[in-house]
Amino acid sequence: MTVLVTGGAGFIGSNFVIDWLAERSEPVINLDKLTYAGNLENLAELRGDPRYVFIRGDIGERPFIERLLRKHTPRAVINFAAESHVDRSIHGPGDFIQTNIVGAFNLLECVRAHFSAMDETARSRFRFLHVSTDEVYGSLDANAPAFSETHRYQPNSPYSASKAASDHLVRAYHHTYGLPVLTTHCSNNYGPCQFPEKLIPLIIVNALAGKHLPIYGDGMQIRDWLYVSDHCAAIRRVLDAGTPGETYNIGGWSEKPNLDIVHAIVDLLDEWRPRADGQSYGEQIAHVADRPGHDRRYAIDAGKIERELSWRPAETFASGLRKTVRWYLDHPDWLANVQSGAYRDWLEKNYVDMDR
Ligand code: NAD
Ligand code: TYD
Repeated sequence: MTVLVTGGAGFIGSNFVIDWLAERSEPVINLDKLTYAGNLENLAELRGDPRYVFIRGDIGERPFIERLLRKHTPRAVINFAAESHVDRSIHGPGDFIQTNIVGAFNLLECVRAHFSAMDETARSRFRFLHVSTDEVYGSLDANAPAFSETHRYQPNSPYSASKAASDHLVRAYHHTYGLPVLTTHCSNNYGPCQFPEKLIPLIIVNALAGKHLPIYGDGMQIRDWLYVSDHCAAIRRVLDAGTPGETYNIGGWSEKPNLDIVHAIVDLLDEWRPRADGQSYGEQIAHVADRPGHDRRYAIDAGKIERELSWRPAETFASGLRKTVRWYLDHPDWLANVQSGAYRDWLEKNYVDMDR
């Protein structure tokens, strides 16, 4: 038995693969295109582990994916692969359409063929788990109830629209072809190995580099934050016990305005790595132009996964943020390699393509 993870060299995918192999004996195939967001250094501790295989490839490359499925016959596919940054989707939506919609469609076609060639027993245990986002539901008013699984879709950015499109395809493959799919909608993640273009690592990195801490608009936009290992545990739980065709919202019951996040990071850095001039990192906060179409508030009602699958987050925001800031302070080499682009060299040094 083996599982195929796509996008497993990115932030959440790499945490998922590492946690999986720490918890279970079942091997993992990690298929990743290694865009700018894919970093094999995230997975360095798995080098030499016989339960782990990395394969470089694109979820949209059909003959290659077909061969890979035939060769490894995974009993589950967990699809993390995506373009994931809203700001990049605003500047250039093309890659988002290509990977998040066309790529997901091609992957689904390959998985459908793989599934239909299975015997009854293999079919009954097979799952396709699609990792989606709360952003497909759009923006909430200040007092509106949190997103439930039946909330209408109203994506507002090219990123969320492309994720919504893939969700619809995944749903259709269940209803039309009987593919046993599971879809999860998670809130904003944070934790080790997040590329420093997203809010939390960007603020840490810029603070340490003496740069501005950019706050879009008034900084009162609200996100619902979840520590990455809690998201990974929730996905394992949905994979094990979720009902095919169902969707599950995953969140930390932890809504916070962006300004509070930035101040919490500033407080930890002031304590753990005080500025040489004795001033607070808060001095570096700068309000900048707002993001076009910026969603005001996201909030997840995680009641269904709690009730039906007994999943609950283990970390509070305070404990998760402490771990995260500590991780970035303790991994200056990871950060330097990401900032200089040297992490791309890992591919050349550490990857021998055996599956092509
Ligand atoms: P990320 O950008 O850090 O990683 C994405 C990974 O996918 C990278 O390793 C990249 O190389 C790979 N990839 C991109 N295009 C590919 C393709 N065509 N074929 C194969 N691999 C490809 O993203 P992340 O933050 O780890 O998010 C992972 C998933 O979780 C995404 O689907 C995202 O929509 C979803 N999600 C993210 C968050 C969050 O807060 N980061 C929250 C909810 C859901
Ligand atoms: P981000 O981490 O990009 O995640 P998402 O847009 O998917 O929620 O941004 C989180 C919030 O922080 C969002 O409201 C935008 C805001 N933000 C800033 O204010 N400044 C920044 O430099 C970044 C990257 C984000």
